[in-house]
Amino acid sequence: MADEVARRRSPAFERLKRLFERREERTLSFGAAILGMVAVVVGTMRSLPESWLDACTAVVLGLSVFFALEFLLRLATVERRLDYLLSYYGCIDLVAALIVPFALAAGLLPAEERLLAMLWILKVVRYTPAFALIGRVLRNEGQSLLSVGAAFVIVLLLSATGEYLLERSVQPDVFGSIPDALWWAIVTQTTTGYGDVYPHTAAGRFLAGIVMVSGIGLFALWAGVLANGFARELRRQEFLRSWDLVARLPMFSRLGASIIAEVAHLLKAEDVPAGARIVSQGQVGDSMFFVADGEVEVRTSRGPVRLGPGEFFGEVALLSGRPRNATVVATRRCRLLRLDVADFRNLAASSPELLAVIEQHGAEQRPG
Ligand code: CMP
Repeated sequence: MADEVARRRSPAFERLKRLFERREERTLSFGAAILGMVAVVVGTMRSLPESWLDACTAVVLGLSVFFALEFLLRLATVERRLDYLLSYYGCIDLVAALIVPFALAAGLLPAEERLLAMLWILKVVRYTPAFALIGRVLRNEGQSLLSVGAAFVIVLLLSATGEYLLERSVQPDVFGSIPDALWWAIVTQTTTGYGDVYPHTAAGRFLAGIVMVSGIGLFALWAGVLANGFARELRRQEFLRSWDLVARLPMFSRLGASIIAEVAHLLKAEDVPAGARIVSQGQVGDSMFFVADGEVEVRTSRGPVRLGPGEFFGEVALLSGRPRNATVVATRRCRLLRLDVADFRNLAASSPELLAVIEQHGAEQRPG
């Protein structure tokens, strides 16, 4: 019965669904959120003529209708409505759709109603893949970041206590209690240094110097943890992409998962435009290539030979140590996986099966 209903509504339903999966729709929604932000920001400039502020209100109201329609259409086209509503993306869409109607219902003035629309920034987050990367890095590195955060709090409390002991008799109004001294401690430890509060005693200044240096050290540590987390996550993504491509190459299907993983770690994906010369005859060979997608033409003395997905070239120079025996050109846009000579040698030494596959496949690929 449910299948019957789905089949009956399918053409229009599918068309609508495709609309929401399309990149243009996401770009439109992203652009609408950015326009909304601009209207909110400009709308706070009281010096502008009244007509400009009215225009900002009109933009916010118009975009609110747009987000409400977008939410309703999305709700109508998703397969699992409740899952969507409870999901992170569903919540963002719901907030974006309801925030301005809520402000209007609450009787807020246009200026406040516009301010609430700042929450549309969540839409920008929704459509920016880099934020997903940041989220993953924070989750992965949570433990290390927390340790650095704990060290930060410990130094903060110790320095506020120390400065309270050293300065309370000289400046009782600003260092009269540990909570008072905490303001100085955070401003000093983050090396912000407003200069509104500073120690007067020599011992107090000495302690301040130590706090500043430890602040720099802790931030450097924090930055190091994050940089390492980003590098690791990007490497992981690159590995997954290479793994996917390598696992699809038929010649590797005979090899075990551990060799595929090893190869995937070493291959570097490269996009080559149509007509590009990838290797030239007579050149010294520094790498071999696997065709993941597209097609290349090997210009041999016996005429051109075309190689497609799953095939490879450039191994002869690596195996024999002689210069390239042919020129290879991309006939259309290609995605290649490059294996550098040093990695090729290491792989050949550690996985003789892989070397055998390359030699055998090479012989089959180019008889004679
Ligand atoms: P290499 O000599 O390193 O660089 C050019 C590559 O073209 C060569 O390795 C082979 O991989 C490939 N090649 C040469 N001749 C042929 C052929 N007849 N058929 C397919 N590929 C070839």
